[in-house]
Amino acid sequence: MTQPSNKDPFLLLKEKKSAGEIISSLTAYDYPTGRLLDEAGIDFILVGDSLGMVFAGLEDTTGVTIEHMIYHTQVVARGVKNALLGADLPYHSYRTPDEALENAQRLMEAGADAVKLEGGTSQIDKVCHLTQHGIPMIGHIGMLPQRVREEGGYKKKGRTQDDAERLLRSAKDLQQAGVGAIVLESVVPEVAAEITRSLKIPTIGIGAGSDCDGQIRVIHDLLGAYPWFRPPFATVYADFAGDLEKAAHSYIKEIQ
Ligand code: KIV
Repeated sequence: MTQPSNKDPFLLLKEKKSAGEIISSLTAYDYPTGRLLDEAGIDFILVGDSLGMVFAGLEDTTGVTIEHMIYHTQVVARGVKNALLGADLPYHSYRTPDEALENAQRLMEAGADAVKLEGGTSQIDKVCHLTQHGIPMIGHIGMLPQRVREEGGYKKKGRTQDDAERLLRSAKDLQQAGVGAIVLESVVPEVAAEITRSLKIPTIGIGAGSDCDGQIRVIHDLLGAYPWFRPPFATVYADFAGDLEKAAHSYIKEIQ
């Protein structure tokens, strides 16, 4: 079993929050992407279970297994030297605290510096169990993609006073349980800003407005590499799909 290190893997992220500097974060699922993002100076690289959709072509993330996550964490870890490397516990891999611990340890052995699971107050027993066993943890609240089927779609969170209070409570519970950072996904911007102000640990937003301590995006959205679906909040900086198609046509022409 990998021994927990004494060094706080979230130190840079916390320092950036204190200094008011934005934390940069992107997902990666393969070695070249992990290495290139690391060399580009991204602070936090996440092997997200979004790989089920943008890498594997599944309808949502619920088909991703712990074995998929271990494999992708291993290949990305080979290329990442400086960034914090996070990995997701996939759907149904943390049904009990002991199952969560066993699978989190497997992700750490695969090369992750920290592990993320979805959910706030309702998952606190698992988060506490993991942090007490020395697993550096990242929280994830707001829209939870692993619950998309139960919820009947991807919906913005924090629209009502009750929901906003529930999210703030969850964020504080996660902080208390020892997570080093929290992802806020599809949260009303004013609510995300309030959560960010209320916490000592950094928040990393996606579809949650600009007043979070950092921003995370799915790498395929940034690169234009998954043209069949583009979330409205994602700025596209490249045309990977178009360039790939052009390169394929040029190659077909060349070898005729
Ligand atoms: O799976 C993922 O890529 C994520 C990010 C979108 C935060 O959880």
